[in-house]
Amino acid sequence: MNQTYDNEDFFSQYAQMPRSREGLSAAGEWHQLRPLFPPLEGKSVLDLGCGYGWHCRFCEEQGASRVLGIDSSGKMIQEARKLSQGRPIDYRVCSVEEYEFPENAWDLVVSNLALHYIEDLDFVFEKVYGTLKAGGTFLFNIEHPTFTAGVGQDWVYTDRGEPAYWPVDNYFVPGKRDTLFLGCCVEKYHHTLTQILMGLLNRGFTLEAVEEAQPPEEMMGIPGMEREIRRPMMLLVKAGR
Ligand SMILES: C[S@@+](CC[C@H](N)C(=O)[O-])C[C@H]1O[C@@H](n2cnc3c(N)ncnc32)[C@H](O)[C@@H]1O
Repeated sequence: MNQTYDNEDFFSQYAQMPRSREGLSAAGEWHQLRPLFPPLEGKSVLDLGCGYGWHCRFCEEQGASRVLGIDSSGKMIQEARKLSQGRPIDYRVCSVEEYEFPENAWDLVVSNLALHYIEDLDFVFEKVYGTLKAGGTFLFNIEHPTFTAGVGQDWVYTDRGEPAYWPVDNYFVPGKRDTLFLGCCVEKYHHTLTQILMGLLNRGFTLEAVEEAQPPEEMMGIPGMEREIRRPMMLLVKAGR
């Protein structure tokens, strides 16, 4: 199970990120992810790797009648509970691998930027398919395969220290990648596009939308953002049960 987010240094670095301080409006993918949510009035929602619970609170605001966020990090769940005080949202410290996935229980399963921490995506697809009600939706955002493929998950730099290009290497070798994120060693898993999309189709899902996140125009002035249009970083997928 991934313990990175319970590491004191990593957790305090993560707390400084704009998406941690300001929430969904500061997340570069939100302008593309938000329109992919189905109508939520009276619906039940499970969030896999909910972190601070931003998507749980969004779903509750949209009228969802039951919302559960699970995360393997106790610190992240503590923060989610703090930010959700007084709201009817349940949080549990529980990994995706350990969750019981009751049959036919949820209208929407959402997961934002958590599935690249999981080695066996077919396991997740099978469990999510079973836990969704007929007609339900699986909506997720995973780090893009061209982003996760390269061994160090970093740019190749010029002699002057500027990013020269993003290396796509060992693309067809899925599996563990040791990366440096927020100054910490973080273990992630590379999955090819075929594994992600065919994994869903083979499980019986129908693909409803596939998008590659690009930062919105208004974020382009933020330092470092110009790099974000040089390679895709996130893959958004909406699949129907
Ligand atoms: C980048 S954060 C995203 C948090 C949240 N979904 C959001 O978008 O704000 C990734 C989250 O996934 C959680 N995570 C990583 N591996 C997990 C696993 N195997 N099971 C459950 N949660 C996991 C981490 O603890 C962390 O909170």
